[in-house]
Amino acid sequence: MKIALTYNLKRKDDTKPADYFSECDSEETIGSIVAALETKGHSVEAINVEYPKLFSYFNKNNVDMVFNIAEGAHGKFRESEVPAILDYLNIPYTGSGTFSLALALNKALTKKILRAENIPTPDFQVFSKGNEELDASLRFPLIVKPNCEGSAKGISKANVVNNREDLLKIVREILDIYHQEALVEEFIDGKELTVGILENGKTRVLPILEIDFSNCNNSGEYFYSWRMKEYQGDRELGLTPSFHCPARLDRETEELVKEVALKTHRAVGCLDISRTDIRLDKNNVPYVLEINPLPGLDPKESNFPIMAYAAGMKYEDLIEAILLSASERKSLN
Ligand SMILES: Nc1ncnc2c1ncn2[C@@H]1O[C@H](COP(=O)(O)OP(=O)(O)OP(=O)(O)O)[C@@H](O)[C@H]1O
Ligand SMILES: [Mg+2]
Repeated sequence: MKIALTYNLKRKDDTKPADYFSECDSEETIGSIVAALETKGHSVEAINVEYPKLFSYFNKNNVDMVFNIAEGAHGKFRESEVPAILDYLNIPYTGSGTFSLALALNKALTKKILRAENIPTPDFQVFSKGNEELDASLRFPLIVKPNCEGSAKGISKANVVNNREDLLKIVREILDIYHQEALVEEFIDGKELTVGILENGKTRVLPILEIDFSNCNNSGEYFYSWRMKEYQGDRELGLTPSFHCPARLDRETEELVKEVALKTHRAVGCLDISRTDIRLDKNNVPYVLEINPLPGLDPKESNFPIMAYAAGMKYEDLIEAILLSASERKSLN
């Protein structure tokens, strides 16, 4: 197949906030996906998405499929930018469509859909002004997050709060810095899990990945904060979570967690691939925090490939599975 890989490149830019490019992809990830596709016999051109380059590229080049990992550039619907253009140009692409990408990027809206589907998700409230009354039913500790970010942008240990004053301080910081609503939700103090779903012929729930932060205590970090993600593996900083795949769960909990992730994937309308972040409470209830339709695909660092390897796949098999799933859909259209 002739494939275009669409992506947004991670850059260093001292004039931007430290987390500005965190969602974007590294040269290593791009190179690995290109190599994987080539190993499987495809011809690939990688395109760092910049307007209006994308239009002129597709004007001049016919491709069979776009392998899309672009996070987009602007605003709350940014992950939908490239799929929307491809829909308009009638070019098939891998992964979820415009609607699901926009929905999943809005955590509060996604949670309302999960609620409607009886999928457990932490109790929450959205703050858009910074002086709202806190819903009396919410119990501290609470975590405050930007409503429409990924890669744990804007999430540090200070975002877990125990009183109204600290809560409003973080809410206002988020409104100020990220120019978007703040999502306040109950902090679920339990096992951190993430579940990969891969559709290739049949829908496959990959072995669950458990991320254990107990040996990060010296770093002061104790959950998947931005620092934890950005500096993952840094021994000097003590940011060395341990990964268990499959997760250390009893059979019943494992089945329940997989079922909840699959229901979430379907409720949000994801296609080909997704990664659902879950926390277990002390009664083993799996609370869905969010779903990522564009999970990171760094072959060494990202959670999704770890789960694919545990399922016995090589990196190139994972990339090919995403492509084949999208190709099957194309042939049905
Ligand atoms: N309600 C919660 N209870 C406990 N921990 C939470 C909660 N919400 C978020 N966290 C912690 O913060 C991390 C990041 O939160 P979340 O997954 O919502 O953000 P994100 O920026 O969308 O992440 P990603 O990098 O997966 O895109 C979680 O993986 C978890 O460790
Ligand atoms: Mg997450």
